[in-house]
Amino acid sequence: MARRKKIYEGKAKTLYEGPEPGTIVQYFKDDATAFNAEKREIIDGKGVLNNRLSEFFMTGLAGIGVPTHFIKRLNMREQLIRAAEMVPLEIIVRNYAAGSICKRLGLEEGIALPRPIVEYCYKDDALGDPLVSEEHIFAFGWASQQDMDDIVALALRVNDFMSGVMMAVGIRLVDFKIEVGRIWEGDFQRLIVADEISPDSCRLWDIETGRKLDKDVFRRDLGDLADAYTEVARRLGVLPNTLTEAPKPKLVK
Ligand code: TMP
Ligand code: ASP
Repeated sequence: MARRKKIYEGKAKTLYEGPEPGTIVQYFKDDATAFNAEKREIIDGKGVLNNRLSEFFMTGLAGIGVPTHFIKRLNMREQLIRAAEMVPLEIIVRNYAAGSICKRLGLEEGIALPRPIVEYCYKDDALGDPLVSEEHIFAFGWASQQDMDDIVALALRVNDFMSGVMMAVGIRLVDFKIEVGRIWEGDFQRLIVADEISPDSCRLWDIETGRKLDKDVFRRDLGDLADAYTEVARRLGVLPNTLTEAPKPKLVK
């Protein structure tokens, strides 16, 4: 079989040409990176978990009418997605203070923010994805005012959905990052949630114990990252609780 054409290789995912025009195959790698790839490691099984978790969140979002790039999961590590023209921004929504906002504004980790705060970073690894304002976004033409209105509305809907889904399984959604792409339907442009939604791009804390169940486990050397992601997947019912729950073989007479 001919090898598929690689379109792009990122830190955690690789994109291949899809079977139909306008589609892409997104492959989830086991690579974990932090601090702009200064720290990196292979975490066995991370790609499989993120493929399943991103499928779960994107499918749920589609279920409440939030458009996403997800078409279908193809196998353990790959999903078919819609090709989109990516907006070069990381859109971050914060419900509680953690990570860079604590350093930037001198906030204590874990305090509830007065309202969800939406931030934008310009996607450029060489610059370390700097924080930017709408002024920069409009001046440099990365997105229009209408796009940004749509993006904020999209990000807040994702926040409400993800917060509710997580709350139901005893997890606090502290913050998360999404990326957005443009697709064209005839003459109309539509913005859709793209990239991935997984514990790589969220902060998730157990409500009872405060245990961190996201990539901070890797960033801060807090334990086994795959264990933390497996716990998220297990609580959401994305993975069977134990292998013993698999159907038993039937005796054939
Ligand atoms: P921050 O506190 O480091 O700015 O991160 C905010 C959220 O964005 C957090 O949930 C982790 C996520 N994130 C990414 O998904 N990719 C990144 O490159 C960074 C820096 C953060
Ligand atoms: N994803 C970024 C990196 O690889 C940063 C992070 O998630 O902490 O460096």
